[in-house]
Amino acid sequence: MKTLIKNGTVVTATDQYKGDVLIEDEKITVIGTSLEIHADRVIDASGRYVLPGGIDVHTHMDMPFGGATSADDFETGTRAAAFGGTTTIVDFAIQYRGQTLHHAWETWIKKAESKAVIDYGFHMIITELNDQVEREMDALVRQGITSFKLFMAYPGVFMLDDGSIFKALLRTGKNGGTICMHAENGGVIDVLVQRALAEGQTAPKFHALTRPARAEAEATHRAIALAEIADVPVYIVHLSAAEALEMVTDARDRGLPAFAETCPQYLFLSYDNYEEPDFGGAKYVMSPPLRDHAKQDQLWRGLKFNDLQCISTDHCPFCMKEKRLGENDFSKIPNGAPGVETRMSLVYDGGVRPGRISLNRFVELTSTAPAKIFGLFPRKGTIAPGSDADIVVFDPNRTITLAANTLHMKVDYNPYEGRQVTGATDTVLSRGRVVIENGTFVGRTGGGSFIRRAARS
Ligand code: URP
Ligand code: ZN
Ligand code: ZN
Repeated sequence: MKTLIKNGTVVTATDQYKGDVLIEDEKITVIGTSLEIHADRVIDASGRYVLPGGIDVHTHMDMPFGGATSADDFETGTRAAAFGGTTTIVDFAIQYRGQTLHHAWETWIKKAESKAVIDYGFHMIITELNDQVEREMDALVRQGITSFKLFMAYPGVFMLDDGSIFKALLRTGKNGGTICMHAENGGVIDVLVQRALAEGQTAPKFHALTRPARAEAEATHRAIALAEIADVPVYIVHLSAAEALEMVTDARDRGLPAFAETCPQYLFLSYDNYEEPDFGGAKYVMSPPLRDHAKQDQLWRGLKFNDLQCISTDHCPFCMKEKRLGENDFSKIPNGAPGVETRMSLVYDGGVRPGRISLNRFVELTSTAPAKIFGLFPRKGTIAPGSDADIVVFDPNRTITLAANTLHMKVDYNPYEGRQVTGATDTVLSRGRVVIENGTFVGRTGGGSFIRRAARS
């Protein structure tokens, strides 16, 4: 099967040129100008960008959390991702206490394999570390699960003590894995939460007020310090606070391999959203929380100058019925919000169009850098001969209105409801197969594959 994408502007992290792209079966085989090659299918990309498919390295499909389960499963969630121009996700499998990593891996692969419509990989969340778990970490790295998420928050549920975190970091020094850190000081936050509740402060905004930026900065600093002692890289997930970014920047200025991602919600929403009436603030309850609008410029600066390397989504949607579990107690509101479908358009509209980041940097932040950091490059994350034909034909001039009832995520609200964004996904190919065309999903349930990722060399 040959597919030819003609007349578009090919954009990678480094280049931008008019070109045609030939795809044979699952791979890109030829890139050139005015290619006269017979193809089974020709896609005219005139006036549009031909981008490497988005890579979202932080999603939670079908995840039990806080007494509920995230609303998107691997079918609805990956379909929504594809609509938004994302062709690979890296989701999180969870080792619950008393269980093996192997059990978590089997559980999550079963959730995904017959459902995912685009390719996927897994990070492994470790909530209990012992000798056997350390050996399992090595085995997972060999099987292509090359990153592990650890929590410095949620005591009694997910949180690991510093000694266990340090051991896990040391282990990745030997096995080539990467530790991804949820960096918030869980002990301090717990005290603040109990104090607020004792004072009758139960509304959603107290979720944010009990998770101060300094608690994120302290944990970020500690995570980087532990990684420095262990002499390994560390990747901070969902960084929201400028104060935490300063810790990453300082470390990088000292030459340390500290990496971090932020998410669109931290760039486009803010603490003010928690003040929405009628329990509306619950829509934005996520951890870390939204921060002050005034600090967002610092995040953009971090994205521009590479102190932040990736933009992921932390897609973890709960319907309002589930959010209402915390109607009388903000600490019972399931943490998380939808985002997998809106990332590319939001970042293009709010980042590239106003000149905060370049078009190449947009591709780098949403596709190439995540691919490189998480062992997917050059198979994914670029447009080059030999790479998977994960391609997005993106219209930089089409304006869409973000709304829960027209988006495809299985959740009854959208944090950006009514927001108009310019820059939208038209056609999406996943390993050479067209999966989105003319606003319609034309892919196959279960058409996505588990991708074994490479370890650090
Ligand atoms: O609130 C969030 N972020 N929910 C998902 C779980 C996590 O910590 O990433
Ligand atoms: Zn987290
Ligand atoms: Zn998350």
